[in-house]
Amino acid sequence: MDYDRVRETDPQVADALEAEVERQRDTLEMIASENFASEAVMEAQGSVFTNKYAEGYPGSRYYGGCENMDTVESLAIERAKELWGAEYVNVQPHAGTQANMAVYFAMLEPGDKILSLDLTHGGHLSHGHHMNFAGQLYEVEQYEVDTETGRLDYEAIRDHAEEFDPDIVVSGYSAYPREIQWERIQEAAEAADAYHLADIAHITGLVAAGEHPSPVGIADFVTGSTHKTIRAGRGGIVMADEEYGDDIDSAVIPGMQGGPLMHNIAGKAVGFEEALQPEFEEYAAQTVENAKALGETLQDEGFGLVSEGTDTHLVLVDLRESHEDVTGKDAEKALEEVGIVLNANTVPGETRSPFVTSGIRAGTPALTSRGFDADDCRYVGELIARVINNYEDEDVKAEVAEEVQNLCEANPLYE
Ligand SMILES: Cc1ncc(COP(=O)(O)O)c(C=O)c1O
Repeated sequence: MDYDRVRETDPQVADALEAEVERQRDTLEMIASENFASEAVMEAQGSVFTNKYAEGYPGSRYYGGCENMDTVESLAIERAKELWGAEYVNVQPHAGTQANMAVYFAMLEPGDKILSLDLTHGGHLSHGHHMNFAGQLYEVEQYEVDTETGRLDYEAIRDHAEEFDPDIVVSGYSAYPREIQWERIQEAAEAADAYHLADIAHITGLVAAGEHPSPVGIADFVTGSTHKTIRAGRGGIVMADEEYGDDIDSAVIPGMQGGPLMHNIAGKAVGFEEALQPEFEEYAAQTVENAKALGETLQDEGFGLVSEGTDTHLVLVDLRESHEDVTGKDAEKALEEVGIVLNANTVPGETRSPFVTSGIRAGTPALTSRGFDADDCRYVGELIARVINNYEDEDVKAEVAEEVQNLCEANPLYE
């Protein structure tokens, strides 16, 4: 993978692009929200579609010359309907956050009420954090996971909904390792006569492959990012029953966006086609098996996992249980030094600042895309343990860095 044409014009950017290819090849990418798009997806994203304005929707655009845009956007929509079984799909939101914005703009008035999971317990900024537009435009109350079990307390969510009387209840999370019982959240929403938005940003691929139960047909709205476990072009998606289609369409444009990013929509179409192939189900199943293997190894090494395990693509380690003095940031930094890239994360009952944290979040979607199996992930778990147990020991870190390199070479990326 080289960037000769960029280099002719702009050597500084070409240097950064090539350095990034090397970085991705030579490190273990374990940020749970990241993945490796195929070269086909990237070719579509880096295509002439970037030149085209296509405000509007297939068959009804504000500009001429949109026939190829219509073809590709329609393909993306049809494939998404097949993948997730939704009646209505909008593939134009620029990202997962904008997908959530589209639902809020379509269904809520400023000042309306949102009930959602607290950020430090695994929620997302766009679910109503005070520094996000959602927290500024709407009145927000948040539920928490049970700090003992690390799991959602559905009874408490229902009680909270009855008491707060929200207009929308948001489910779907950024750092929740367990299966979500969509019906139970739906019951809470119905108890308050509220809409239910299920944000499957992280688990789009797992839901499409049947590795996690689907909220489609249960929640009123399902949103997601298209570049995480589903491994398609970068962006967002909204799904709903047909009855909400017109409202969502006009919330996206003219409500909140101008021209859609047609090159990204092309990447979404290509990635969805890949996800419709039988191999994708194997990929999603392997991703979950790998996360379980990683989690079990970390537990064998003495680490505590929030909820004591995982049903998904990620594990959340509460370092306080094994390493009281090592913060999430210390662990993230030491691991990055050896080529293992993941993020510090708050844990339920967090006692440190969100910039320091007491936990780390580790995911397997990207490792699985480059061919890692459960044995590889057990080995990665051992390496993580060795680094955190010796996070200030340069000799140990040098040894582990070499083993990380061997693992990367054994599982090549973007050859
Ligand atoms: C639950 C959840 N919703 C929404 C988003 C936002 O997605 P994006 O980064 O595409 O805006 C994320 C991102 O990680 C997320 O975890």
